[in-house]
Amino acid sequence: MKTSSRLRAGDEYLFDWIDKLRADAGSGELAPIPLGVGDCDLPTPPVIVTAMQRAVEQPELHRYPPYEGTARMRTAAVDFFRRRFGLRPDPDREVLVTLGSKEAMAHLALAFVDPGDVVIVPDPGYPVYATWARFCGAEVYRMPLRRENGFLPDLDAIPADIARRAKLLWVCYPNNPTAALADTEFYDRLACFALQHDILVASDAAYSEIYFDAPPPSFLQSPGAMECGIEFHSLSKAYNMPGWRVGYAVGNEQAIAALRAVKTHTDSGTFAAVQHAAVAALTDTTDYPARLRAVYHERMTVLCDGLEAAGLEVLRPRATFYCLVRNPAGLAGSAFSERLLTEARVLSIPATGFGPGGEGYTRLTVCAGLDQIHEAVRRVSTITW
Ligand SMILES: Cc1ncc(COP(=O)(O)O)c(C=O)c1O
Repeated sequence: MKTSSRLRAGDEYLFDWIDKLRADAGSGELAPIPLGVGDCDLPTPPVIVTAMQRAVEQPELHRYPPYEGTARMRTAAVDFFRRRFGLRPDPDREVLVTLGSKEAMAHLALAFVDPGDVVIVPDPGYPVYATWARFCGAEVYRMPLRRENGFLPDLDAIPADIARRAKLLWVCYPNNPTAALADTEFYDRLACFALQHDILVASDAAYSEIYFDAPPPSFLQSPGAMECGIEFHSLSKAYNMPGWRVGYAVGNEQAIAALRAVKTHTDSGTFAAVQHAAVAALTDTTDYPARLRAVYHERMTVLCDGLEAAGLEVLRPRATFYCLVRNPAGLAGSAFSERLLTEARVLSIPATGFGPGGEGYTRLTVCAGLDQIHEAVRRVSTITW
């Protein structure tokens, strides 16, 4: 049997590798504390589960859903956009319901990228952007996210030839893995850059609701962004729904139509009952994401205080459930992560797993209960680096 050249040997998906590492590290009392993968430990809120239970009993929701998503789901997404960002995308032409955001981000590459094109991705960055660019035969240009620049890319440093040949440029704020935020001034410059070079900006906003001070803006709020942008939103992080696979894309009409076209050839949409539950989430008036933010903030404070007290340099995040820790004692690549696992039995992810630009840093999450975080800090404190 011969697999495609696309699936290069050793090209394992980062989180698949982490899951295996976790399984190999032992279970029961020996199980390491999971501060590696960003998979929330908390359950989906009851209001959403109840909506799902009711929805699943309605036979009309058992059929294939509309390719673009149910009208109710698209309207709920538009209402969220109006409340949160002051924007009113057209629910019929500028919104598309997706299976979480990962599949849609992959399919965007199929919709826009031809062999020989350039795709610009952040480094470090969520692996899907670069992998699918490569799957489509594109040249990947990694734009460095540097700490001294607030982990924002320097658009002026993108070579003219790259900008000319680029079809797609990815950004992700609040950012995984750096936890950095983008401001409107950066997004305004990005929209100008994209319009000038006829590049589609793909903005990954999976963490838009996980923040600790002011709500982060949407790229689509910038002048001209609806002409050159598409943004991916997901219910996975804001409502603890990673297993439900529901999200939506908002943006330029042509980009939405192209993505929809690829998806009609690929999947048949998110189960309508799940969309029903997602509407319950987006229209819930009790502001669940605010309560979730408070939980993450408390956990993050315990983690960061504890790691700092242990003598480590922590980049305190203003958003997401991740924090970067500077590798101590000049440890490179995954060496710090490996020592955290073997000596403290704490799982983490070397930031180099997100690209070479992550060198020198390790990512930890707070997707574990306070008891576990306290215990992780205690164990890490016993190690001499
Ligand atoms: C930056 C980023 N974007 C997108 C996703 C995909 O999330 P989902 O497909 O569940 O919406 C993740 C998941 O961890 C992520 O970290």
